[in-house]
Parts: sequence; C-alpha cells; structure tokens
Amino acid sequence: MNPIVIYKSKYGSTKTYAEWIAQELSCEAVENKGLKAEDLEPYDTIIYGGGLYAEVIAGVTLITKNLPKLQGKKIAVFTTGITPLSCRDYYDKMVMEKNFKGDSGTKVKVFNFMGKMITQELSLVHRTALKALKKLMSEKENPTEMEKLLITLCDCDGDFTDRAAIGELLDYVRE
Ligand SMILES: Cc1cc2nc3c(=O)[nH]c(=O)nc-3n(C[C@H](O)[C@H](O)[C@H](O)COP(=O)(O)O)c2cc1C
Repeated sequence: MNPIVIYKSKYGSTKTYAEWIAQELSCEAVENKGLKAEDLEPYDTIIYGGGLYAEVIAGVTLITKNLPKLQGKKIAVFTTGITPLSCRDYYDKMVMEKNFKGDSGTKVKVFNFMGKMITQELSLVHRTALKALKKLMSEKENPTEMEKLLITLCDCDGDFTDRAAIGELLDYVRE
C-alpha cells in the first residue's frame, strides 16, 4: 500500500485528523493547496479530508471532479463537522447528495468525524454568516427538526475531535 492523506482545513480540526491518520499509516499528510489529479498519480490509496461548510466538504472537488483519472485507486473521504453523530443518518445523506453527484458517491467510501468550532477563532465572515443563519431559522414559524438543530449548532462552541474515531477508516484502507 502506498497511501497519501490530503486535507483542507481552515481551523485545524481536519488537519489534526489528517495527521493522526498519516501517523497510523506511516505516510505523508499534505494540504490541498492547488493540487491536481496528476499529483495523486504515484499513490494507490488516497485519503481526502475536508471540513464541512454549509454541507460542502472543503476542497473535495479535487476528488469528485477527477474520479475518471483516479480509477483503480482506493479512495476514502472524511469530513469533519459539528453535526452531532445522533443526527448523522439524514444529515450524511444530505452531504452525500450535495458533494457527490450521480453515482460518484459509490466510488469512494465516506467517513464523518466530529470537528471543532471555537467561537473566538472564527473569522468575521464566518461569525456573520452563522449569525445570519441563526436569525433566518429563528424567524421561521414552524421550524423543522433540521432547522431547530441548525439554530443550536450556530451557538456551538467546543472541540469534539476524537482520535479513536479514525479506527474505521484505518480498517477500510488497510483491508
Ligand atoms: C460558516 C460555517 C459553516 C459550517 N457548516 C457546517 C455544516 O454544514 N455542517 C457541519 O457539521 N459543520 C459545519 N460547520 C462546522 C465546521 O465544519 C467544523 O468546525 C469543522 O471541524 C471545521 O473544520 P476545520 O477546523 O478543518 O476547518 C460550519 C462552520 C462554519 C464556521
């Protein structure tokens, strides 16, 4: 096995997971900064990680737009986010639909890990976006369960990263 871990991380939680995975697999963890499909050619196993931002996996188009070029490789994608694991069923479905069009989701295995959101670390743009989202959801007369969840998540403040969570991904890439 010749694996590589690639990640896109604004606040560091995805980077933390990428480094934990790379340590376990004794391989490199590389930031997705202008990488192209050609850069992935030497590797037979690609692990891509990105933080979730409005259900979009940061930078995952490096994988999803290049699937034909990556044919024959084992690909695992992991997300980090603050959506509680108890809500994952329908939430993860939404993430799959948003990021993997057509049958592209069947060509990769996706894992979801808890990330972190520390209010004080957030950029002004992100803080403003969360405030606006919370206001919008709070003004709904009959909010759905998802909308109620979003209201509480906008106030989320904490680090939920968990090294033990990577076990399933490691088993998958090693099998
Ligand atoms: C503007 C904004 C939007 C976010 N959207 C989502 C989301 O849709 N789903 C989710 O689970 N977490 C969401 N989060 C939380 C981040 O995904 C979480 O903090 C993640 O761990 C960040 O990864 P990073 O530290 O590698 O950048 C959002 C955070 C911000 C600031």
